[in-house]
Amino acid sequence: MDTIINPFKDQTHSIPLKKLLLLIIYAFLPIIIIFHLIVYPFPISFSQSKHSLNINTSSSTSSKEIGNDNVEISCDYSNGSWVYDKLGPLYTKCNTIKEGQDCMAHGRPDNNYLYYRWKPKNCELPRFDPKKFLQIFKNKNIAFVGDSLARNQLESLLCMLSTFSDDHELVFSHGDDNKFRKWYFHSYNMNVSIYWSPFLVDGIEKSDKKNYNTMFLDSIDEKWGMDLDQMDLVVLSVGHWFLHSAVYYYGDKVLGCHYCSGLNYTEVGFYDVYGKAFETTFKTIVERRGKNNVGVLDVVVTTFTPAHFEGEWDKYGACPKTKPYDVEERKNLEWMDAEMRERAIEQVRIADKEVAGQKRVRFEAVDVTKLAYLRPDGHPGPYMHPFPFAKGIEERVQNDCVHWCLPGAIDTWNEILLQVIKRMERTI
Ligand SMILES: *[C@@H]1O[C@H](CO)[C@@H](O)[C@H](O)[C@H]1NC(C)=O
Ligand SMILES: *[C@@H]1O[C@H](CO)[C@@H](O)[C@H](O)[C@H]1NC(C)=O
Ligand SMILES: *[C@@H]1O[C@H](CO)[C@@H](O)[C@H](O)[C@H]1NC(C)=O
Ligand SMILES: *[C@@H]1O[C@H](CO)[C@@H](O)[C@H](O)[C@H]1NC(C)=O
Repeated sequence: MDTIINPFKDQTHSIPLKKLLLLIIYAFLPIIIIFHLIVYPFPISFSQSKHSLNINTSSSTSSKEIGNDNVEISCDYSNGSWVYDKLGPLYTKCNTIKEGQDCMAHGRPDNNYLYYRWKPKNCELPRFDPKKFLQIFKNKNIAFVGDSLARNQLESLLCMLSTFSDDHELVFSHGDDNKFRKWYFHSYNMNVSIYWSPFLVDGIEKSDKKNYNTMFLDSIDEKWGMDLDQMDLVVLSVGHWFLHSAVYYYGDKVLGCHYCSGLNYTEVGFYDVYGKAFETTFKTIVERRGKNNVGVLDVVVTTFTPAHFEGEWDKYGACPKTKPYDVEERKNLEWMDAEMRERAIEQVRIADKEVAGQKRVRFEAVDVTKLAYLRPDGHPGPYMHPFPFAKGIEERVQNDCVHWCLPGAIDTWNEILLQVIKRMERTI
């Protein structure tokens, strides 16, 4: 185990015991879990090595200027608490919920988790207004780009929009597990698409043949990049795939790797890499959209959302909580989650500053890391499968403590998304 634990010795941060135990558990896990790795990867290692990635990234941290004439404009949606709300979810039935997140249909017995509303500290977060959303995006194209959490958020949005407009139709579907799809909302001439791209940049996902990811940090993934010209809003959501073993390239040069014992490359961790993936993405977006005259593009990043495994993923009770954490008890994010959030936000700030005044591309973050962290009750857990305890409780049961039940906490991400978009509209 030494090789796994040693990197922590270089850390100034202390590693919570829970995470350390998790890490050891993960390290012992056999590679049984092919399906699991495809659906969502494990946080294999939380280490950040002492070597940093040898790429020149600016480190400006100046924060975005925000208007002060309106509560909504200055509201910090990321700071607050979950409060009980008898109103409950915006929808209960919806035909775009992915099987694995359809907790109610799968017999999840508790429903308290549906009755919480996010209350930002100094303002209100309005309940999602599907009509407003559709009006803003009439004659426009929306793209969600990222991993299975991007898909989770997109499916939540579709469910919320369906409560107002049910004339949408799936007009495109491609790839295994429907990784590329497009829905057309006829009466608003609005399209919503999803592009599978777990790194944003070009890369090769790990497979049976090669048990590590390969990323090319200097170029974006053209599977979504090729359609950039047609997008009016792009929501980016990536993170969990960066925790895997990987080898990183910049051009034809190997920059290093992460968790790649057996390969003779320098361990560089994944935080710098994560930031660099956003940097390359934003630069490319600005290059392509800053010049031509195809209208304004809003770029919104959904920040990293923590998983809530409390032990082995395939053991009974892997994420057994049925109510949110109290914010007073959980003031601070855990270290890795905080770092992932910060790397993305930092790049959003830098990009936003660079395009200030150009009015062709705008960058914003939907900062949900803290909200998500406080919702250990929001995951499907064993209800990723229908009626997991139909034959009684067994020791081994698969659990999803990464994605979010629909309806559920993730609906709030889209409520914040709408507010962030309204705020961007005003800054034109
Ligand atoms: C990074 O590059 C910029 C210009 O591309 C340069 O001004 C700066 O000095 C470089 N920083 C480092 C740390 O190499
Ligand atoms: C949230 O707001 C409280 C009081 O306004 C402040 O003390 C705290 O630092 C804020 N937390 C974050 C994460 O911004
Ligand atoms: C949305 O997609 C449909 C069908 O592909 C297309 O006819 C329509 O023009 C698209 N709308 C926009 C705003 O591009
Ligand atoms: C690893 O790389 C170094 C430097 O490139 C080289 O000297 C060494 O022989 C390599 N080790 C192995 C086992 O290939």
